[in-house]
Amino acid sequence: MRDSTAVDARLAAWQARFEEALRRALPDSEHQPARLHAAMRHAALNGGKRIRPLLVYATGHALGAADEALDDAALAVELIHCYSLVHDDLPAMDDDDLRRGQPTVHVAFDEATAILAGDALQSLAFERLAGAPLADNAKVTMLRELAVASGHAGMCGGQALDIDATGQRIDIDQLQHLHAMKTGALLRAAVRLGALAAGADATQHDALDAYADALGLAFQVKDDLLDIEGDSVTLGKTAGKDIAQDKATFPALIGIDASRVRLLELAASMQASLARLQADTTSLEVLGRRVVERDR
Ligand code: IPE
Ligand code: IPE
Ligand code: MG
Ligand code: MG
Ligand code: MG
Repeated sequence: MRDSTAVDARLAAWQARFEEALRRALPDSEHQPARLHAAMRHAALNGGKRIRPLLVYATGHALGAADEALDDAALAVELIHCYSLVHDDLPAMDDDDLRRGQPTVHVAFDEATAILAGDALQSLAFERLAGAPLADNAKVTMLRELAVASGHAGMCGGQALDIDATGQRIDIDQLQHLHAMKTGALLRAAVRLGALAAGADATQHDALDAYADALGLAFQVKDDLLDIEGDSVTLGKTAGKDIAQDKATFPALIGIDASRVRLLELAASMQASLARLQADTTSLEVLGRRVVERDR
């Protein structure tokens, strides 16, 4: 077992590197269209946990990639995530007014600007990934991976299932499928992009996919639990919304205790998958623990 302080320092260094890259990647709010640019910056530069970019760096690093080869993939995944949050919070979707401790984009600006900011963040994600300092064939695979993970078969599809399931009774398999699409797909893409940038082989992809699938489901189970057990100040978003809106969630379907047990099983599954990799997976282990133990 390595010194966990050293791993935390490595993760903190990646996060600082990423924040700087993100600040530089976003359009300047001094330039026109200034309101759109300001909304994009508001959506992205507001204190997210940056789990997805950290997964890109940690995976790539475990397989020997340099940080410079991972920056654009990390940006791309986080930009897609930020866009998904802006749209998720819209009145037509979850109708939330608090995100990362600040007013949501449609509240701070207006709905049209929030829709456009989300759209533009999505485009910027693909622009950045297309410009990464990597071989074209690797980039084409990565672009496709991110497109599939964010589209109808991934995040957007999951969001559609989430809307359909609201106020309905669905079974556990349907709920797992919904969660795997709406949240799991992008987390899996983060791990995949890190692995692809590092030129992973099929065996490494298999182990990492299994890790990412367990982490992705754990992420949304924990998100569902935090909606009940967390407080709005710590969460930076309004607690208690899922019950108020009759959302299909793990605790609603199987209860809080069984959801906690499921989280522990998923944590064990992450560990077992990482043990199959012949690599230094300490950063990935710590990120897995953060997902399960976080309070926001
Ligand atoms: C929240 O994601 C939305 C879900 C996919 C459940 P995060 O919990 O990663 O949000 P930030 O980026 O830290 O704000
Ligand atoms: C949103 O899930 C997932 C995406 C944005 C794709 P939630 O609706 O549960 O996320 P929060 O709780 O608003 O962050
Ligand atoms: Mg939602
Ligand atoms: Mg929401
Ligand atoms: Mg939630």
